[in-house]
Amino acid sequence: MKVLLLENIHPVAVEVLEARGFEVELLAGSLGEDELIERLAGVSLLGIRSNTNVTARVLDAAPDLLAVGCFCIGTNQVDLKAAAARGVAVFNAPYSNTRSVVELVIGEIIALARRLHEKSEKMHAGVWDKSAKGSHEVRGRTLGIVGYGNIGTQLSNLAEALGMRVIFFDTADRLAHGNAQRMKTLEELLEKADVVSLHVDGRPGNAGLFGAEQFARMKPRSLFINAARGMVVDTEALREHIVSGHIAGAALDVFPIEPKAQGDAFESPLRGLENVILTPHVGGSTQEAQEEIGFFVAGKLAGFALEGRTELSVNLPAVNAPALQEGHRIGYLHVNVPGVLASVNQLLAGAGANITGQYLATAGEQGYVVTDATEALSDDALAKLAGDEHCLWVRTWSAGA
Ligand SMILES: NC(=O)c1ccc[n+]([C@@H]2O[C@H](COP(=O)([O-])OP(=O)(O)OC[C@H]3O[C@@H](n4cnc5c(N)ncnc54)[C@H](O)[C@@H]3O)[C@@H](O)[C@H]2O)c1
Repeated sequence: MKVLLLENIHPVAVEVLEARGFEVELLAGSLGEDELIERLAGVSLLGIRSNTNVTARVLDAAPDLLAVGCFCIGTNQVDLKAAAARGVAVFNAPYSNTRSVVELVIGEIIALARRLHEKSEKMHAGVWDKSAKGSHEVRGRTLGIVGYGNIGTQLSNLAEALGMRVIFFDTADRLAHGNAQRMKTLEELLEKADVVSLHVDGRPGNAGLFGAEQFARMKPRSLFINAARGMVVDTEALREHIVSGHIAGAALDVFPIEPKAQGDAFESPLRGLENVILTPHVGGSTQEAQEEIGFFVAGKLAGFALEGRTELSVNLPAVNAPALQEGHRIGYLHVNVPGVLASVNQLLAGAGANITGQYLATAGEQGYVVTDATEALSDDALAKLAGDEHCLWVRTWSAGA
């Protein structure tokens, strides 16, 4: 099977795919719609980052395409619904840069507590200002984590290793790591924390979660960090609380409006404030994260193409079937209407299939059934499955093939 990887995807992806028998072509840049269509002839798997758009037109013109791997976090560049309707699976790497974000935040907590940024700027301006004023150790200080998911929990562990006390607030039930303490309300957390760090997700309800009221609740001279989503914070309100001295410092990696292209001007009410660290949405941008993304997404593409696994697909029903160690597997993707499973099983029984495992899931307009059997299904039975009006595709795999 042929794989086309665009946009300088990490070479580890090529290694993973070649080791599993794929023929891989790696291109440095992205491709426009027409060129992409041309290059997709005979290609089974496509790997992109954020600059290649996979539109319904591209999908229609690529009958051989089985799956698209987004070697990044976002998947807006792919028409997910159109891909699902055509049975094309889309994968991404939502958690491969978790550690990178956590390390940036840990660095920022110390940098803000020691006012490093301000001191370094003065030194560059030729000013020797040796003073302990406003500088603190982080040991024994309380870190308040809002949003205790993948990033929040890893941050919790590293902050405790630094000797910080950790408290957290999450709207979902989350198990406390180490000695971290759950707060019943956001207000309780804001009143107790010396450093507040936001790690909530981008659900619409989180827009404007942090405004004047929340900043006013924070302890005087506390620190604020947002490496989650720009829309969560009212930057004007943050500015006012920094200028008044109520907030002693802040680090922001994400903004309500971010420049679209490299080199575009960045506008924000937070520019020019003392002890405020601004970074251009680079929390997850490290070489290590790129490598992890390459490894992760390549594995997902191979698992789908060679074993029919859709675990963590962003657009098809996620079926986490085990590795195919022996026997044969039939993957059946269908339109999600009642009664399909019963008719599939009737057909399989009629064909004398000895089923050893069956895994299924539905999501939105599609349903997916993976059936493992001791014997391969006959061509006649497969043709019957494929001929069903609700079938999007039927594929088979054999162990060791
Ligand atoms: N700066 C970067 O480069 C960068 C990189 C990766 C991720 N992120 C962002 O970091 C954030 C966290 O990522 P993650 O992988 O940990 O996500 P996650 O989904 O694992 O965790 C988010 C947590 O926030 C909780 N939550 C949602 N709304 C809440 C609210 N209003 N109050 C309290 N808790 C709330 C959820 O229940 C969940 O536990 C996301 O917004 C993600 O987009 C930023």
